Amino acid sequence: MTATRPRIVIVGIYVADLLFKAPRMPIIGETLLGSHFAMGPGGKGSNQAVAAARAGAEVFFCTRLGNDAFAADAQKTWQQAGVTSRATLHDDLTTGAAHIFVEDDTGRNAIIVYAGAAAHMVPADLDAIEDDIAGAHIFVAQLEQPLDVAMHGLRLARKHGVTTIFNPAPAATLPDDIFPLCDWITPNETETSLLTGMPVTNLDQARAAADLLLAKGVKNVVITLGDQGSLLHTAEKSVHIAPFIAGKCIDTAGAGDGFTAGLATALAEGRPPEEALRFASALAGISVTRSGTAASMPDRAQIDTLLCTGP
Ligand code: RIB
Repeated sequence: MTATRPRIVIVGIYVADLLFKAPRMPIIGETLLGSHFAMGPGGKGSNQAVAAARAGAEVFFCTRLGNDAFAADAQKTWQQAGVTSRATLHDDLTTGAAHIFVEDDTGRNAIIVYAGAAAHMVPADLDAIEDDIAGAHIFVAQLEQPLDVAMHGLRLARKHGVTTIFNPAPAATLPDDIFPLCDWITPNETETSLLTGMPVTNLDQARAAADLLLAKGVKNVVITLGDQGSLLHTAEKSVHIAPFIAGKCIDTAGAGDGFTAGLATALAEGRPPEEALRFASALAGISVTRSGTAASMPDRAQIDTLLCTGP
């Protein structure tokens, strides 16, 4: 492991999460009584930044915010988690928000996200932090900000020999030239299906889809499989990692972000791939036992304790 704190640069969005719990989703034209509401920090990139910082990494987070109350919440969230902000404030734009539905009985979720100011990000936003990227162990991007920003970040990281992790969420079809820029890719089943055009409902199908992603140029494929754990698939090996059960699953929103952040932190520390996936699984396993997204991310001691005891 590296002696210094592992350094991670993440590009993505911050939004205010408006989380509603209910027995089921309403249908169009219907009003449903909910069982719980909470507002808190969200956005996949920001959630990853908070999770990685709590897990022990030195994190730089690049985004755009409006100059408003949600932006103030963002800055407070990053300050509390120890994330270094590389956000720019824009008077003419508003910070985004997400509607998160969480199903009472299962904790499963459905999300509408409006990226707001972060939807206006441009590749030059990353040129402005090229020195941070050059000095990082890991660079992470997702797809809530424009695709060309993610691709530019992956290219900049490549230019400086920095390991790249691409979390292709939300699901989208992508140009072929993004895949060779990915040292690691972390799609869930739905995202993998869309990227490959193949069904992914079991481990064998996940392996077949992962082969296609390797053929497209990705070096290491990690497919998250919900309560079935995750798959590490490379040219050399294919390993199923069991999930960590840390308690009753009450809210899966943000778990994928926690997983990618855990993987980034562990790889940045120099851990071998299977150990890094176990670290990521433990982080995500704890987050699903808590409500909220960024708010559900555990600290390092809690992750280490679970790693010692299970699964
Ligand atoms: O992955 C969960 C996140 O997706 C939420 O925090 C929401 O803001 C959406 O971006």
